[in-house]
Amino acid sequence: MHAMMSLRATSRLSPLIRYRAKSNLAVLAEIISKNAANLEKVGQNSSTPLPSIDEPFHPQTEAFRQDPANAEAAAQIVAASLQLAATLSSPMEALYHVAAGPFKGAALRVSIEANIAEILREAGPGGLHVNDIAKQNGQDPKKLARFLRYLATNHIFQEVEPDVFRNNRISGLLDTGKDSKAILADPDAKYDGTTGVTAIVAHHLDEITKGSVYAWEHLNDAEAKNIQDQRGSPMAKYLGKGKNQWEWFEQPDQLPRRKRFDMAMKGAAALQSSEAIRAGFDWSKLTKGSIVVDVGGGIGFAAASIADGFPDLHYVVQDLPGAIANAKEFWQERNPKAVEKNGVTFEAHSFLEAQPKRDVSVFFVKHIVHGFTDTYCKQILDHLRSAATDKTVLVLPEFIVPHACRLPEAEKQARQNVPGSIDPEAPAPLLANYGSQLAYGADMAMMFGPNGQERTYREMDNLLTNSNWKITKVHRQAGQMSVNFYEAVPV
Ligand SMILES: *[C@@H]1O[C@H](CO)[C@@H](O)[C@H](O)[C@H]1NC(C)=O
Repeated sequence: MHAMMSLRATSRLSPLIRYRAKSNLAVLAEIISKNAANLEKVGQNSSTPLPSIDEPFHPQTEAFRQDPANAEAAAQIVAASLQLAATLSSPMEALYHVAAGPFKGAALRVSIEANIAEILREAGPGGLHVNDIAKQNGQDPKKLARFLRYLATNHIFQEVEPDVFRNNRISGLLDTGKDSKAILADPDAKYDGTTGVTAIVAHHLDEITKGSVYAWEHLNDAEAKNIQDQRGSPMAKYLGKGKNQWEWFEQPDQLPRRKRFDMAMKGAAALQSSEAIRAGFDWSKLTKGSIVVDVGGGIGFAAASIADGFPDLHYVVQDLPGAIANAKEFWQERNPKAVEKNGVTFEAHSFLEAQPKRDVSVFFVKHIVHGFTDTYCKQILDHLRSAATDKTVLVLPEFIVPHACRLPEAEKQARQNVPGSIDPEAPAPLLANYGSQLAYGADMAMMFGPNGQERTYREMDNLLTNSNWKITKVHRQAGQMSVNFYEAVPV
């Protein structure tokens, strides 16, 4: 009887489980121990110390990742750990890691708005009792303790004694570096002059999250489905029909949100270094005077970064009139020589309109198409195609969203002639994408807010093909997933 039952139970299991010589548990543990042993050695070197979760963040603890072998070892350990946690947690616990995501986000937002990271930095390594935190920021100490304990359970802040909290490696990212009393005296200026990193997180936890809770209603809104611009986004559903984020920001009482958003975008841009922008394309092969158009380039920060290394090219910074006014100011300060000797032209122009016809060598279109639905992308790419000569190259720095599975062999074969087009894959039994979340988070944020999309290689290939462009190359930069450069030529 017992034998029969166990036989029946066994027969319901997939062949994968029944015949695996080693359990997944052992395989995953082996991946961790093998890679950890390698990293331990790296950590012995004083110039590449390994991170500690308990210490406040220090940039030196990221130095080890500059060696691709170390970055790979860390990525495999993280992937295996996440997979182990999902495997061995009770399904309800594992489900609630995700189901309670919005609760965690709420706690995180409270900690940012209440300036906890700044207050705890000032308190030092001993930390501070919630009652004393509350005395400084005027919040309810009992509720603060509940939020902070939830975050500490997720390795953001540390509870060192009951109700006493201090910063750790992760909570350090929430610290603007400013004096907490100065922020409390003028909360609207909190993000002014910062790197913008905290501003990005705060923007996601506020505006984008407000959109996110309407994702399902948005999907089932017959009218919104057909709206291709921002008014068709989940955020618009939160704001009320016919409104978008920009109109929201225009209201006088929304000035702090608008300022924070501007800082967030600055922070997002700063995630890509000038070196990374120059390294993404072989600018040296362009002849003197070649025209490079920074399409929708804002103040032309990217073009200015390229001009630092390649001053003999001619740069055209294109954007809407407001940005162009700022662009002139920015260049005058950053690169007055280029302005003086006519190395840069400023053009008030919308990429949704036809491009002027001229001999353009490179259309540089950085993080533009991710802000739009396919319909608008086609307009943008068609305009560029119409203005292209047969020598024009289209360069698109964008996220490349990986699949969660391995690429089928046939598709790998089909992409053989496009260098860099195949997403790096983690070894089995890890998820092919290492369980890395950032590209998907960016994609969701683009859907919820601007009604845009981060795209897989396939999706980008389709977009470009539909506008008569052909991808010839993908330049991937390790650890810089948002500065992967697609290169395409006219067909
Ligand atoms: C320590 O690390 C630095 C930076 O990666 C490297 O240049 C140096 O050779 C390493 N030293 C040893 C003894 O491995």
